Amino acid sequence: MQRLIWGVILVLLLVQFIPVNRSNPPLNTGEDLVYSRMVPGDLQQLLQNACYDCHSFETEYPWYSYVAPVSFIIRHHIKEAREKVNFSIWNTYMDKRKDHTLDECIEVLEEQEMPLKSFTWLHPEARLSDVQREELIQFFKDQVAALGWREMGTEEEEEMENR
Ligand code: HEC
Repeated sequence: MQRLIWGVILVLLLVQFIPVNRSNPPLNTGEDLVYSRMVPGDLQQLLQNACYDCHSFETEYPWYSYVAPVSFIIRHHIKEAREKVNFSIWNTYMDKRKDHTLDECIEVLEEQEMPLKSFTWLHPEARLSDVQREELIQFFKDQVAALGWREMGTEEEEEMENR
């Protein structure tokens, strides 16, 4: 039993040496949703507190993100999250992607899937009250309207092809 415990401790010590990429790529403020002033003042902080640690290049890495294996999990979350939605490169998205992503943002907020529970548990400032959640949903809906993108239905697409 003692050997097992020492074995586990040794493994835990060794995994600390596995490098984890915690870099934040350089920020181009012109491409960022918040910095390009598309977000009303009072919502900026809200969005940054609730979403930016994962969905942007402005991740703040807490001390426990330096401890393996937690660091691996956090790194994986951030990588996945940025692939899905990255507000730091928002303005580089095509309209179609913006529209799709905005819809998803509305959905995850309505269904209380985001911000992730494991995150709000440790980050009280990211917890959203019902009113704040509603404000963010309304903001994303306004963005959808402002974008004015309309996906063609399959029927319309077929019609175009047959022309
Ligand atoms: C702690 C990290 C974290 C925070 C904070 C966070 N997300 Fe996410 N988000 C993720 C991860 C990881 C995924 C990808 C895995 C998944 O879909 O569960 C994701 C996925 C998404 C998706 C794609 C969902 C889908 O169905 O593909 C949307 C949209 C999204 N997040 C929006 C938001 C918004 C809006 C906020 C802020 C209100 C937010 N997230 C806060 C980690 C986070």
